[in-house]
Amino acid sequence: MAEHIAIFDTTLRDGEQAPGYSMNLEEKLRFAKQLEELGVDVIEAGFAIASPGDFASVQAIASAVQTCTVASLSRALTKDIDCAWDAVKAAAKPRIHTFIATSDLHLEYKLKMSRDKALEQAIAMVSHARNLCPEVEFSAEDAARTDRDYLCRVVEAVIKAGAQVVNIPDTVGYSMPQEFGDLIAYLMNHVPNIDKAIISVHCHNDLGLAVANSLAGLKAGARQAECTVCGIGERAGNAAVEELVMTMRTRKDLFDFSYGLKTEELYKTSRLLSSITGVAIAPNKAIVGANAFAHESGIHQHGMMAHAQTYEIMTPESIGLKKTTMVLGKHSGQHAFVRRMEDLGYTLSQEMAGKLFADFKNVADKKKEITDRDLVALMESGTHAAPQIYELDNFVVNSGNNMTTTACVTLRRDGRKMQAVEMATGPVYACYKAVEKIIKHSYVLEDYQLRAVTEHRDALGEVMVKISDNHGVYRGRGVSTDIIEASMQGLLAAVNRMVEVAESNRKESEESDHSAGRKAKEWVPLSEEARSRDMKMSGTIDEDVTKELYHV
Ligand code: KIV
Ligand code: ZN
Repeated sequence: MAEHIAIFDTTLRDGEQAPGYSMNLEEKLRFAKQLEELGVDVIEAGFAIASPGDFASVQAIASAVQTCTVASLSRALTKDIDCAWDAVKAAAKPRIHTFIATSDLHLEYKLKMSRDKALEQAIAMVSHARNLCPEVEFSAEDAARTDRDYLCRVVEAVIKAGAQVVNIPDTVGYSMPQEFGDLIAYLMNHVPNIDKAIISVHCHNDLGLAVANSLAGLKAGARQAECTVCGIGERAGNAAVEELVMTMRTRKDLFDFSYGLKTEELYKTSRLLSSITGVAIAPNKAIVGANAFAHESGIHQHGMMAHAQTYEIMTPESIGLKKTTMVLGKHSGQHAFVRRMEDLGYTLSQEMAGKLFADFKNVADKKKEITDRDLVALMESGTHAAPQIYELDNFVVNSGNNMTTTACVTLRRDGRKMQAVEMATGPVYACYKAVEKIIKHSYVLEDYQLRAVTEHRDALGEVMVKISDNHGVYRGRGVSTDIIEASMQGLLAAVNRMVEVAESNRKESEESDHSAGRKAKEWVPLSEEARSRDMKMSGTIDEDVTKELYHV
């Protein structure tokens, strides 16, 4: 009988660690519920000790999820493990995932610890975790670059100490598939008690080999694969769950495994991630990218019409993409709109459906036919998912060649209107300066991209904006037939994410200062070094505006 492969999803831990992918508690909960629908075996919900926010989201996910195991990461330290247990103990199936580095490089330079001391620590912490939690996973960080015989000793010892799952990460994505498969085979053949635990693989994608390495590990005997949706994660990311599972499905002749994951939920899950984080999925992304099932060339289209398998190794339906012949336009009703969004993988709350339908109607007034790509762009603009703190009321731009552009922008916040006028060398630049003036919070514009969603003259313009302040990096996307409006929407989605974080940080620090009897900290302006990274803003804000911006 085909052996079961457990899918361990770490989108909410390793994935969320990547810049630009941070989510708030409500978003993490929504995503965890979708992971449950997808049918993953384990959800790594976060790193409980990392921050009070991480703790709260691991705890909330542990209480909300019923069918999956919920894990929290923890270093091999008593206080981390205790905190992880507090966060996951309400789960139907809790797991503590503890780790320590085992490569000489990490031991010498990062931990300043001997091999024997690290081994001792691993054993003690696995025993401690097992005294608290019925299920414990141990990871040997940087295992792929660890001395093999020492790694065998560690694996044997942690299994003896009670770890039911032992994870072998290629932390820096250095391995080749053959080499990684050999490592797992070596462990299977040299660790005497290996049959008492499940061996897991966790591969990073620095050389683009995360999925290939994971598959090689499974072939060699590993029975758990750690992955993330769309492969997001530290640096170049982790193994992408959709690529790993669709390879097992498509090449069952080579990978005769069973798994509980419902592949028909993959498309929807990837779209949810994109709409929550505001990060677009690359059109050529394997399995879930917009072009993954698009056949543009005449030769391909002809072949497809003659026999689908000429150019299609898997069906769009197998990942949950439904075909349609229905065209939406300005006479379409909300019901048809919501149905089409569902077919595209989006389940809309009533509130979101109302907001998006209003946007759809707006666009349909200006554009005759609304294609699926338009709908995806509208949905993924992220403006609906971002907190609605500042909203665009209106803007007027006076622009032309041989003149200084002026922009007058009006935003609303809690029903109050705020207006600013700015001058600059271009319309987007002038609008962005006006927004910065209104929100009184300086930021660096790290990236700005504009593209047409479809080919025709009346195409929607999609703008992707990335900004940063002293606390983090925030993204937003906007979509409109007017590129200045799309630019404003994209900026406001990012700005609202930034303001939400800044205000909650400020509130937390004011509360702790208040209870400690200290004076609340002043807002710290961006450094000149940070400002110099700005694509357009650096050195351009007028003196008087700068003062106003930094005044809190
Ligand atoms: O990449 C890695 O080594 C990890 C471990 C903490 C599992 O993420
Ligand atoms: Zn990792």
